[in-house]
Amino acid sequence: MQKDVFFILLEFSSDSDESSIQESYEKRSEAFMNSYWIDSCKEIGKFEQIDRDYATDVCIVGAGICGLSIGYYLAKAGLRVIILDKDGVGEKASGHTTAKITLQHNLVYDYLINSFGAEKALQYFLANKEAISNIKKIIDTENINCDFEVQPNFVYATKTEDIAKIQSEIKAINILNACVEGTEKHESFAEFVTDCGLPFKVAGAIKIDKQAQFHPRKYMLGLARTIKEYGGLIFTNSRVTDCEKDGKGYITHTDGYTVKSKYVVIASHYPFINFPGFHFLKMYQETSYAIAIETKKTLPEGMFINEKEPVLSFRSAKYGDKRLLIIGGGGHKTGYAPESDVNYGYDCLEKEAKKLYPDCNILYKWNTRDCVSLDKVPYIGGFSDFMPNMYVATGFNKWGMTSSNVAANIITDRILGNENKYADIFDSTRLKPVKNRAELKNMVGQVVKSFTSNRIKIPKENLGAIKNDNGGIIDFEGSSIGVYKDKDGNVFAVNPTCSHLGCLLTWNNVDKTWDCPCHGSRFDYTGKNLYDPAFRDLKKYEIE
Ligand code: FES
Repeated sequence: MQKDVFFILLEFSSDSDESSIQESYEKRSEAFMNSYWIDSCKEIGKFEQIDRDYATDVCIVGAGICGLSIGYYLAKAGLRVIILDKDGVGEKASGHTTAKITLQHNLVYDYLINSFGAEKALQYFLANKEAISNIKKIIDTENINCDFEVQPNFVYATKTEDIAKIQSEIKAINILNACVEGTEKHESFAEFVTDCGLPFKVAGAIKIDKQAQFHPRKYMLGLARTIKEYGGLIFTNSRVTDCEKDGKGYITHTDGYTVKSKYVVIASHYPFINFPGFHFLKMYQETSYAIAIETKKTLPEGMFINEKEPVLSFRSAKYGDKRLLIIGGGGHKTGYAPESDVNYGYDCLEKEAKKLYPDCNILYKWNTRDCVSLDKVPYIGGFSDFMPNMYVATGFNKWGMTSSNVAANIITDRILGNENKYADIFDSTRLKPVKNRAELKNMVGQVVKSFTSNRIKIPKENLGAIKNDNGGIIDFEGSSIGVYKDKDGNVFAVNPTCSHLGCLLTWNNVDKTWDCPCHGSRFDYTGKNLYDPAFRDLKKYEIE
């Protein structure tokens, strides 16, 4: 979600229909839209911008849940840690999640056993299972008040023909769980249920008890406080622009100052260093949407997600002395929102909310981007064999809560020289995913011709194709120009070539951003970079 988000409070009457939903969109540009996690947590802590050069043991790029979790373990182990982020603590992907803490990452275990073998599938299972208790331990040890609640998790199917997949997954999970020492063979960890408490009929669901949910931003601010207590430093509004080798260590450059360290950890959602990590060949990004509603109807108890696209997920959360329901879904590959329906993601969720809870008030709306690895397993470990002492954690496939803790343990162990028994399956230098030719083709096929001067003269009629409060790409003299016209007709023009690796950007009229379909970078309508992996702004044009 971009930083200059809007907040929205849309109140639907019980007889509201699609036309009233449409009306609400008209108002939305006036309204303010934000993540519940950000809006309900006004505490920002005292984080400053970097103000001089530093030398430290570990420099961590990214103050989201992953960077903070790594910083926590390392600072607690006695290492000097500096965390840098171009935004605030937990303000990007980690503050725009549904925050489910579960090992049940949709249907993954049957796939992992078949693709990676039982031994590696067990590593994934145990690493994520332990992550739940690790998070609870941190919360208890450090007295972090973050609304942690133990909940059952459900993956459900609504169609009878999908029950076979559900049954295979249950079998896979129970086989893996039976490998855990002390588990009785007959013990059923995952169970099949046909009633999971959702307000619609399901054909069947996998239920796993003792999973959890929390308020992710309260947790992250608690981690940040603790890191500082252990002597760590956190600098926000401090954008990292480069990282260069310096003997056995690195010098990390920000806009004004440098951090010299033996170790560097790239925990910035999408690695901003392209070579030699080549993550742009191994991942893409997806945009997902969430809304938070208030209703008088009874809320389902637990966390829920369906087993296939289009995703529809549910969980409740504390809301003062009441509770609200968070509904997630409506996702699409970043830069690929259906053009015919600019509000596509929110439309899907609002229609579903009104169908299931006709009396609901929609209190919050937000969207986020997630890195999706091509083989469904995160990349955690060494950045590249050519970059010793540099580590990376990315590609969490929308399951960032447990994955961050898994990453924090693996990377901490690597830095401290300890063995980690779950590290193999997550090995970030594995080559398997590079085989994805469709993504490669997608990346290299989007070359844009552009003007060399930043001052161009475009006849009015060429701009006529773009309506006010809208944007798009126009062709002019063989070059592509990205144009946004605000409500008053003021024109903002940019070179729509992504500053990461040069793909053609697409216009996103919900957030008024330029989005990259290759690896998911985003820029505001003036060309300012909002999301990595790009970190440079777009070239701006002055229109005469
Ligand atoms: Fe990689 Fe745009 S994000 S080319």
